[in-house]
Formats: sequence, structure tokens, C-alpha cells
Amino acid sequence: MKIDFANLQYQHALYQDEIEQAVIKVMRNCNFIMGEEITQLEDSLKTYTGAKHAISCSSGTDALLLAMMALDIKPGDEIITTPFTFIATAETIAFLGAKPVFVDIDELTYNIDPSKIEAVITERTKAIIPVSLYGQPADMDAIQAVAKKYSLKVILDGAQSFGSTYKGKTDSTLGDISCTSFFPAKPLGCYGDGGAIFTDDDAFAEKMKSLRLHGQSKRYHHQYIGLGGRFDTIQAAVLNVKLKYYKKDLALRQTVATRYTKALSNKNYILPMVKSDCTSSWAQYSIRVQNREALQMRLKEANIPTAVHYPMPLHLQECFNYLRYEKGAFPISEKVSQEIMSLPMNPFLNEDEIMYIVSHL
Ligand SMILES: Cc1ncc(COP(=O)(O)O)c(C=O)c1O
Repeated sequence: MKIDFANLQYQHALYQDEIEQAVIKVMRNCNFIMGEEITQLEDSLKTYTGAKHAISCSSGTDALLLAMMALDIKPGDEIITTPFTFIATAETIAFLGAKPVFVDIDELTYNIDPSKIEAVITERTKAIIPVSLYGQPADMDAIQAVAKKYSLKVILDGAQSFGSTYKGKTDSTLGDISCTSFFPAKPLGCYGDGGAIFTDDDAFAEKMKSLRLHGQSKRYHHQYIGLGGRFDTIQAAVLNVKLKYYKKDLALRQTVATRYTKALSNKNYILPMVKSDCTSSWAQYSIRVQNREALQMRLKEANIPTAVHYPMPLHLQECFNYLRYEKGAFPISEKVSQEIMSLPMNPFLNEDEIMYIVSHL
């Protein structure tokens, strides 16, 4: 048996005719930049998430950047986030000249531990960026309570969690501004780079729409320093098709996760834990193992691909040496990064494939 980690090919084959026709339509109309498919997608994203505004953009990374630019994040500002995430969460903070301030994670969910946030707040702190890692939202009520107490904004990095919920609300409505990614391997992936930003705040929405178009207020009049951060019309056409089937895809991902958990329950691994007030979009199914490299090698020999999200927490990355965090500063992130391993995860993994994978664990 040969297992595909994300199985994008199967997904394309499933919706092939519809997607290809939608793309051909854009090509024939030549409306490549901000064509009608963009408006259509943004309307559907609003309906899907319940957010008042949905703004598509060029990537999940740019979504974070645009969100921070809308909040006027400046050099010297401090932004609190988790070190156990993809580089983009903190890189964008540093890119704007602000300082990433890390807080360790909760050992069960791998999301930022809200009880540790207050201790690192200073008069320079402007915002908190929780990440919904592997698809599960963080403890948002606790995070919002600290934010409110200190008048901070919350930007949610939902790059991995589009469609997940917390207390019945979609992940895209949990921050003052919430971001997501449509990178191909994400739960809702397009066919290249893409992302979106969500907010209920009219002023932030207007500003972010302008910022993604070089800060323009009207053509060739520029109110802000912005960026070229638009989403491509062709990619919007792809997502207009995929979004229609997304609820079904999420349900299938949940079935795969449930099967894994059941099949692995009598083995000696730490399995993912989704809190009872959350649903996960299951971007990854990540377990904690000992002797990870040897196990990955063994699985590879059986044609079972695995991945590590993420092998080195951000406070130990070379690019952040200037922040002067020591090894040991965030022991849970450091321990989990040594043990975590993602198993193949996509909506189309069938029972036989899951059993095959589990039999090698
Ligand atoms: C947590 C997190 N934040 C941000 C990003 C950046 O998204 P993109 O790759 O679309 O720029 C990713 C994607 O890999 C991510 O996983």
C-alpha cells in the first residue's frame, strides 16, 4: 500500500470538471485581477463564517501582515504569541519592526496558555496572536478576557483552522481580526497561495481592503503605505467550487480523526485532544512519540509519509537570536517539538489505509 499525506490529486479528480470549467471561464474573460469570482467568494466566505467582512488576500502570511497594519503596529510595539507555530505568525510581527513576545503552550491542546499571558504584558503590548494549531481554536474566552483587561487587540491566526468552531462560533469570528490561509495543503486549499481576513469592524475592513491594494483610496490615490496583497481571480474560481463541498470535507476529516483515535487508543502514544467546546478542522492529526526519527524511517519504508509540525520552536530559531531567549525558556513547546509527529491526514483516507498506518505504529 502507498499512502498519500494530503492527497490533493484525489481531491482535484473529485471536483475536476467543475473546477476546470470555472478556471477556463476566468481565462476566457481575462478578468484576472479582482474579477467577479473574488466578490462571489468573499460573499460566500461571509455566509460560511458568519463574519461581517471577509477580505481575500494573497496568502495567510499577508493576511497576518494586513491585520497588523490595520492595527497600526509600529516598530517597538510588542505582540504576544506562541513559539509553537509556523514561522509566519512571528515573522510578520518582526517584519513590521515590532517585537514577538512568546508565551508557552498548553500541554494538552498545544495552543497558547492564556494563564501565562498576563505576566508578559508591558505598556508596549498592542495585541495577542493566538494560533489555532492543527485546526483547534485556542481558549478564546480566557484570551479575550486578558485582552479586554489591558485594552489589547486579538488577531487570530487561523491558517490551519478554517471552518473549526469554538462554543458554536466559527474560528473566523473569534478575533478582532481573524486570518486564514488557503495554501494547497490547508483544509480549504486553493491551487497556489491565498488567504483571507475576517472582521466585524467596518473601519478595519475598509482599511484592510485599501491596504491590500497598495493603500489606495481611489485609483492612483494612496492613503496608506500598503502592499500588493490581492487574491487571484483564478484561485477564487477554484475556491468557489471547493467551498461548496467544504462542510462535507470537514465531516470526512472528522471521521478520519475519530478512526485514528479509536485505532490508536490501546497504543502508547499521546493522541490529539479536542476540547468539548471546540471542533477541529483537522489540518493535522499529530501524535507524540518517542524515538521519532526511527519511527518516521520505519513508516517511510512502509510507504507511509509523516511530517513534523514543528521541529524547532520559534524562540530557538536563528532569525530570532536577537530576542535573546534561552533554551529552556518554554519547556512545553520544546518538549512537544521533540515528540510531535503528524500522520497522513486528508478527507479521503479510508478505513483500510488507516488500519495499515496504525498496524505500523
Ligand atoms: C499557523 C500558520 N500561520 C501562518 C501561515 C502562513 O500561511 P501562508 O502559507 O498561506 O502564507 C501558515 C501556513 O503554513 C500557518 O500554518
